[in-house]
Amino acid sequence: MIPDGPRIAPADAAAITDAAALLRSGQLVAFPTETVYGLGADAGSEAAVAAIFEAKGRPRFNPLIVHVPDIEAAARLIQVDERARALAERFWPGPLTLVLPRRADSRLSLLVSAGLDTVAVRAPDHPVARALLEACGLPVAAPSANASGRISPTTAADVAMDLGDRVAMVLDGGPCRVGIESTVLDLSGPRPALLRPGGVPEEALIPLVGPLAASGADGGPVRSPGMLRRHYAPARPLRLNALSAQPGEALLGFGPGFEGAALTLSPTGDLIEAAANLFAMLRALDRAPGYRALAIAPIPARGLGCAINDRLRRAATPETEDDDWNDRGPAAPCVLPSIEEEPES
Ligand code: TXA
Ligand code: MG
Repeated sequence: MIPDGPRIAPADAAAITDAAALLRSGQLVAFPTETVYGLGADAGSEAAVAAIFEAKGRPRFNPLIVHVPDIEAAARLIQVDERARALAERFWPGPLTLVLPRRADSRLSLLVSAGLDTVAVRAPDHPVARALLEACGLPVAAPSANASGRISPTTAADVAMDLGDRVAMVLDGGPCRVGIESTVLDLSGPRPALLRPGGVPEEALIPLVGPLAASGADGGPVRSPGMLRRHYAPARPLRLNALSAQPGEALLGFGPGFEGAALTLSPTGDLIEAAANLFAMLRALDRAPGYRALAIAPIPARGLGCAINDRLRRAATPETEDDDWNDRGPAAPCVLPSIEEEPES
């Protein structure tokens, strides 16, 4: 155990019971999901949800995903329609988040959706996450358990390194299987809109809901502020589509031909393996001694490759002034949240 760090507990039955009690008393617990580790809090408690923003050091409020065991639990929080039922039937539990109008009687925190009249909900497919949801009996708000602007954590050690004692407990369920966050699909508008590519590929959604509108395509505000550039940034500069390393660069390979790379997302070119390795390897290369920058091999733009490329593009975009979601500045004050209208890249 790290002195002054959080309690990292192997996720056995006793630890899950303790974690559930912590959640019910308004504290923060980090837990594994199949995508990435989540920083969980009681989604019905404004104070607990505010503590999430505080712990992450988010400069502004960003709506969070509410985790539930199943579609029945979701239907108590949001207005579930036919499409949502069909999607949940097919993909839940799993890495698909649905954004739908909040129910007036949901008793969810307002902060959890950052003042929006919609709520993002998903049922995670990880035995520890599911056991925790059952044990606490609460909808659990959980963003990825990284400090704001940092890479999403896929191990308990990543969480402890980022959040230290700002989290009461970290349930250790080993490395995350999917390794990339959930797909976020907005079903609140006239046409379903893909707000964030993720663990369920876009192609898999279309047969169930028809063609997807691009986020903000209707000229409206960006509906998923978590999609802003550099949301997933390593500290070192990142060069994309690299076939070899330049001096000072750590090369992250993909597929055959990258045997000399510092690390390889998947030696055989398997996109699922690559997604699962992505954040952990970016973190490892970001802190490996002797390098100034990262370079990454081309990733094919199909299936999970789209989500991987999306994360990489954000990570590679130099910081700009109109892009401060990843401020390392002081935590957001607990005032009524507002969503800023910012252009999406
Ligand atoms: O895989 C995941 O989704 C992980 C695990 C822990 O479940 N969670 C996660 O949460 O990635 P977070 O907070 O890092 O990302 C939530 C995303 C953001 O892009 C946010 O803007 C979007 O969902 N979102 C949440 N509520 C929304 C809403 N009401 N309308 C539009 N976008 C929303
Ligand atoms: Mg995140």
